[in-house]
Amino acid sequence: MTVKARGQALAMAAASRLHQLPDGSEAEFSESGYLRTRERFQRELIVDVTSLTPAAARVLLAIGGHAGRSGARLVVIGAYQGLFAAWMQAGTETPLDIALVDPDRDALNRAVDNLDRLEVRPKAVVPVGRGWRDWDGLADWVRHDGVVFVDLDDPTTGKWDYLDVLEMFLTTATAPSWCVFHDTCLPRFADVGGGVRELAMSRTAPHAVLPVDTCGMTVVAHPTSLTDPEKDL
Ligand SMILES: C[S@@+](CC[C@H](N)C(=O)[O-])C[C@H]1O[C@@H](n2cnc3c(N)ncnc32)[C@H](O)[C@@H]1O
Repeated sequence: MTVKARGQALAMAAASRLHQLPDGSEAEFSESGYLRTRERFQRELIVDVTSLTPAAARVLLAIGGHAGRSGARLVVIGAYQGLFAAWMQAGTETPLDIALVDPDRDALNRAVDNLDRLEVRPKAVVPVGRGWRDWDGLADWVRHDGVVFVDLDDPTTGKWDYLDVLEMFLTTATAPSWCVFHDTCLPRFADVGGGVRELAMSRTAPHAVLPVDTCGMTVVAHPTSLTDPEKDL
């Protein structure tokens, strides 16, 4: 199997797992959409280093498709140079309300420039000193439908904050929101990935681990999707 075919197969398998989550019906995967977006991003974006693989980029498109369906908000915690946000926005025609959160001002400036090249203007750019906990506007954003994408990596605590972000999401968000964690399949973050899964299970939150590459992702849907089936999603 070629690398391209493998990426495509992984992304389609991941998109079908997203499909099983409540209200995941629009999380479909389009190879032509992926190829068009990749060509544009290679031409227009400036990205130093990234762990984003083609397979994961394809899945971000599908996640963006889910977010866009509800005309929703996209909060990226650990926004870095904006590449992941750009891929999710590219998954939908609907302009998302985007908030970028990161203590690294240089990375955020690069993120804003990158999104500007795509004519995407984030609604909030939050260069929080000690990270996401310092942003008092976070709960208001998370309360609205959408996606919280988490890819923070603290120099001292690594990704252990993932558990607190998930707790915040579960107590603040509503269906059909999703909280997505990057890197949960990396061996060095296996404990954090396991913790995310256990916390999701203990709150009966539908979730899917997506081993699309060595980094992987875990998607957690808000549990009210299950407890209120009559709710107008
Ligand atoms: C490794 S980068 C993400 C890069 C992305 N995986 C890629 O390959 O393009 C992690 C980001 O998390 C940010 N970060 C670290 N601690 C954070 C915190 N507490 N809250 C929000 N962002 C944080 C860092 O400044 C950094 O930009």
